[in-house]
Amino acid sequence: MVNASKHSLLAQDVTRIFTNQFGSELLVLDKVSLSVKGSEIVGIVGPSGCGKSTFLRLVAGLDKQQGGTLLYDGAPVTGPHYDRGLVFQSAALFDWLTVYENIAFGLKARKVFKGQENKVSEYIEMMGLGGFEKSYPYQISGGMASRAALARTFIQDPGLVLLDEPLSALDAFTRMAIQEEIIRMHRLKGAIYLLVTHDIEEAIYLCDRVIIMSPRPGRIIGEIIIDLPHPRDRVDDAFIVKRRDVFDRLSGVVTEELTMEEVQYPMRV
Ligand SMILES: Nc1ncnc2c1ncn2[C@@H]1O[C@H](COP(=O)(O)OP(=O)(O)OP(=O)(O)O)[C@@H](O)[C@H]1O
Ligand SMILES: [Mg+2]
Repeated sequence: MVNASKHSLLAQDVTRIFTNQFGSELLVLDKVSLSVKGSEIVGIVGPSGCGKSTFLRLVAGLDKQQGGTLLYDGAPVTGPHYDRGLVFQSAALFDWLTVYENIAFGLKARKVFKGQENKVSEYIEMMGLGGFEKSYPYQISGGMASRAALARTFIQDPGLVLLDEPLSALDAFTRMAIQEEIIRMHRLKGAIYLLVTHDIEEAIYLCDRVIIMSPRPGRIIGEIIIDLPHPRDRVDDAFIVKRRDVFDRLSGVVTEELTMEEVQYPMRV
């Protein structure tokens, strides 16, 4: 049972155009509209360069759209806020800070760290980083860096968690282990999660629905509801059918019927 959340995100006709130094324009997001409420986990998949990270940066308040509106809890997004936490494509830990200091960073920046030392230790344990508190980012593995980056965001109890391919650099087993942590964290705290990923299996394993974006300019061209019960079985037929649905929508291929052979030999992108 997921903890309830009353948060909401509403994107309406969000358009982002980048202009280069010669004045030519690149339409990256074209009227992207999306409404997410409660404790939904929404996956965003689409070809490289279609504007997924751009969209997350807008929602995080790190960039500004030229057209359309972006409302979080009914109010326009005007800048970054700890209640909208972003975990970047690369773990992006602060190199000069230890694991402990990285995780405590946001609380310290908000001047609410005092008395929260236990909370930092709790997140360190929860994310399997016990014993590495004093290590610097170069002294830990990629999986640990990802865990630390997630802990650094989760510790702020954001109502909206923006995950931009947080696990893409990891091997399959580490990725699966951290996916479980993400589910656990979501159950515990309840928040909206937007997850950008190139891994269709990951999207189906974690998400309540998956949004499909077109190549640039990024538009939402489809949505697949993942109404499978948790814990999900990555190799059962229902899961693989969903995988195929997402794959087909992504590749623009519509298959007439899924044969058993296709079910047993699912494709990857
Ligand atoms: N600050 C910027 N200035 C100019 N162009 C930009 C800027 N940020 C992104 N772009 C362009 O916007 C497009 C979308 O980039 P974005 O990083 O959002 O794609 P993406 O969908 O996240 O791709 P990937 O899957 O490879 O991470 C790209 O063509 C990129 O070159
Ligand atoms: Mg990206």
